[in-house]
This record gives sequence, structure tokens and C-alpha cells, in this order.
Amino acid sequence: MFQPEDFIFHFNKEELPEQFTTTGEAPSNIAIVKYWGKKGLQISMNTSISFTLTKSKTITSVHAKKLSKPHDEVLFSFLFERKENPVFNKKLKDFFRRIEAYAPYIKNYKWHFESRNTFPHSSGIASSASGFAALAKIIMELEQKIRPENSPEFHLAKTSFIARLGSGSAARSVAGPVMIWGKHNEIKETSDNYAIVWNHLHKNFNTISDFIILVEEGTKQVSSTTGHALMQQHPFKEKRISIAQQRVIQTMNALETGDWEQFGKILEEEALMLHAMMMTSDPYYLLMKPETLKIIQSLWDYRKQTSIPVYFTLDAGANVHLIFPASYNNQIKDWLESDLKLDKNYISDYISS
Ligand code: PMV
Repeated sequence: MFQPEDFIFHFNKEELPEQFTTTGEAPSNIAIVKYWGKKGLQISMNTSISFTLTKSKTITSVHAKKLSKPHDEVLFSFLFERKENPVFNKKLKDFFRRIEAYAPYIKNYKWHFESRNTFPHSSGIASSASGFAALAKIIMELEQKIRPENSPEFHLAKTSFIARLGSGSAARSVAGPVMIWGKHNEIKETSDNYAIVWNHLHKNFNTISDFIILVEEGTKQVSSTTGHALMQQHPFKEKRISIAQQRVIQTMNALETGDWEQFGKILEEEALMLHAMMMTSDPYYLLMKPETLKIIQSLWDYRKQTSIPVYFTLDAGANVHLIFPASYNNQIKDWLESDLKLDKNYISDYISS
């Protein structure tokens, strides 16, 4: 296991290439057991486990030119979908400051980034996870050029570590199909500082679909940052942490033994518990919409009638993720379009092992 000190980097200016041009991409992820509540700087209160998506990605191109001497602050320009965005610029500035000790060479360049998502802008899909994971991959590609002797294990762990300093859940977007983030006493190699790959999916979980129903597009009323902070004083904090720790183990068992029913139960319990935490915070709030509940209720009816193993999960928003074996794609499409008469868009993504 690596410690944050292992990621501190020292270099000579002469080692740095004059220019660096590349394209980095990373997908979004969907948590099965959710990260909710922080301790310290982007450290999760509990262990989380997630699926890495395939199609919903951020793709970022970069051109970096070496400066004659390092600048005090990282010099950069960042275009998202061809436009400047002051909110992104502020987030990037904070991110560069946080990673400075671990990737000090970033101050020796003037950077130009151009970024886009393959999923609709402001669709409510976690774009900070894919966005920061793509940036971490770019920075670590430069580091790999300077230190080609670094092991693949170190490279992956540090990429996840850097991504985490941008956005917690981004730690889990740097590889797949399943990633675990946060120290767990019963799972070797887990760390609070970065996520690890877990690769023991039973063949029943070979290809998993994630249809994301876009109930609400645009910015949420209460950000995840605020929600995480409200967990500090939450009356159910300790219980929430211990339940999450147990559920990570139960999830691994279900995924390893191919048990969709057990997996689906945890998935739905976690989605509802995440939202229950929001509803019982002080101040309390609600991110589900009437349409969210309508879809969940219809899904439960549909599952009862058909016995198709289709389950839902939610992020910190109103959108509903339908998770099921990809072999049922056509049935679920028919159900969404004909029976549910959904007037909302949905994105069909998948997790492949
Ligand atoms: O990474 P953040 O700060 O956007 O938090 C994400 C939290 C959830 O999406 C609700 C859960 C998770 O584990 O991804």
C-alpha cells in the first residue's frame, strides 16, 4: 500500500520535456455503496464501491509548453465545450493548488486544455468524477514520461490519488470495472487515499447495463459538497458508517457469487439510505422529484410481474439509474418507451468486465 508521502515528487528542470501534448479520457462511475460525508481533505467517512461506466466520458486534450522558470501559480486556460467557464476555472485553480506537492512540475508549464463530455451537458451525470479523472490521467502521463521506471501499481494508485484531490468520487473513475475507495479493515490493500480495482465479477455480471433516466437536467439545488458537510453533525452518522462498511462486503459477495437478487437489494437500500440521509440532515432537503418516485414504483411493479432482475440506484440528484443484465436491453427499452411512456430522455450505458 502507498502513503501520500510516497507520491511527493522531486525533479530537476532538465528532466522535463519542452512540450507535452496528449488527450486523456475517463468515464463517469456509479456507486453501489455510496460515499457520503467527508473527513479531512476529500477523505470519505466510509468505504464505497462503484461500477465504472463505458460510454459516458470526459475527453480532454492538452497542450503544455515549458516555461523558462516555474510560475507561482499554475498558468492555464481551460475551454469546456469550446467555452470558458469561470466556475470550472476556480475548481481547477483549487485542484492545482492541492496537487502541487505531488506534481510540482505542473508549475513549469503553461497549459491549454480543451474538454468535452460524451453525455449531454448539465444532464446531472457526475461530470466532476470523469473530468478530474481525465485530468489526473493527463498529469500522470507527463509524470510517466519523466519517471518511466514507475511501476504500473504506483502509477494507477497515484492517478487515483490525484483524481481524488479534485473530487472524491473521481478516485473511482480511473479504472474499472469495479473500484473500491476508502480503508476497510476486512479488505486488504484498501486506502483512504486512493481507490483500488476489484476484478472478481461473476459471469452473471459480465455485461451490466446502466440506463440513466434524466429526470432533472441542470444544476442541483443543494450541491454534494454541502451534503457531505451536513454528515458531520448528522444524528445517524455512526450508524450510517457501520452499515456502509457491512454493505461493501455484502456487495463483493453478491458480485462474486453472481447473486443479482442480493446485489439489487443492496443497490436499492443504498440509494434510499443516501436520500434518507439528506432528508434527515439539519437543514433537511430533498433531491428526488415526483417523477423519480413514479419511476421507482413502476420499476417495482414491472420487476414483480416479469421477474427481470432490474434494480435502481440514485446519485445525489433526481435521475434514476436502472441496473440490469445487458441481455435484457430490448425488454427494458420497450418497457421505458411503450409502457412507462417516459417523456424523459435516457442514456444507455454499460459496465464491461
Ligand atoms: O465526489 P462528490 O463530492 O461529487 O460526491 C459524490 C457522492 C455520490 O455521488 C452521491 C456518491 C458516490 O459515491 O459517488
